[in-house]
Amino acid sequence: MESSTPTPSSPFKPDILKGKVALVTGGGSGIGLELVTEFGKHGAFVAIMGRRKPVLDAAVSSLRSQGIQAIGLEGDVRKRDDAIRVLELTVKQFGRLDILVNAAAGNFLVSAEDLSPNGFKTVMDIDSVGTFTMCHEALKYLKKGGPGRDLSVAGTILNISATLHYTASWYQIHVSAAKAAVDSLTRNLALEWGTDYDIRVNGIAPGPIEGTPGMSKLGPDEAKSKSKEYMPLYKLGQRWDIAMAALYLTSDAGKYVNGTTLIVDGGLWLSRPRHIQKELVQEISRMVEKRSRESPVGIATSKL
Ligand code: COA
Repeated sequence: MESSTPTPSSPFKPDILKGKVALVTGGGSGIGLELVTEFGKHGAFVAIMGRRKPVLDAAVSSLRSQGIQAIGLEGDVRKRDDAIRVLELTVKQFGRLDILVNAAAGNFLVSAEDLSPNGFKTVMDIDSVGTFTMCHEALKYLKKGGPGRDLSVAGTILNISATLHYTASWYQIHVSAAKAAVDSLTRNLALEWGTDYDIRVNGIAPGPIEGTPGMSKLGPDEAKSKSKEYMPLYKLGQRWDIAMAALYLTSDAGKYVNGTTLIVDGGLWLSRPRHIQKELVQEISRMVEKRSRESPVGIATSKL
């Protein structure tokens, strides 16, 4: 699935992640693949974890064709043994782990009444429990002095979240709950592991991103065409936008950022339908002020 709009070149120096090792869950497609591609272009060695071998194989061959040192590791973040094995293999291949990105996610549109408890649990297991499991098993590698690391530098974690749970979202109760939990993980791990180990834990909450599986699953064309009416800030982002935010947060550029989830959605989540035109507001507002000066009692009475 290709983005239709050409992407700008990166504003970051090509060596900002030189020699760093990154493991990205869900890195075989969509936003995850864009992240590993940009990490690789900025000097990182990359490992991608996913459930589907053909997807991993295609991603690895595309990464290698761009001169990026990449490996694909089959695994499901819901299985603790897979998490342990994939982390071990990453460190065995590249010598250590510097950056863990939790981008694996499950999603589908369904009304709350049609969603079975097992459907709810499935997404919680992938997004929330999976993120915790990966973080938990990665800790020993990310600590200063961990396998392959010197004593002065700790690794970092990035969790891919969403904005769905800031208010409420139609047909997304499972994902809203799961991403709310992910944001809590980000903050709590930032507090505990930031204090104890200097490990920074941050998140990114992307808006609708063109050319992603999420967008094609969750954004039917009919909804997209109407979006501008009720969400004035609606504009599709590019996978590149998320990758640039990820480079900022995982490189030294973001060394003082910990426990935050950066919203990268063009301001979309703040959108409200414009219920009255600007020109009319000016007119009405002045009229009301004028009336209140002329007849303060009348205004007071009309408010009652
Ligand atoms: N609507 C309602 N319920 C659904 C559903 C849908 N579209 N898709 C799955 N479910 C329910 C199933 O019915 C099942 O519940 P049940 O046992 O009570 O019937 C439960 O979810 C698990 O489904 P299953 O197909 O066994 O899970 P899975 O582990 O094979 O698949 C999903 C995981 C469901 C998240 C799957 O959509 C997936 O992996 N997608 C790929 C990742 C993705 O979508 N990424 C996009 C990120 S935005």
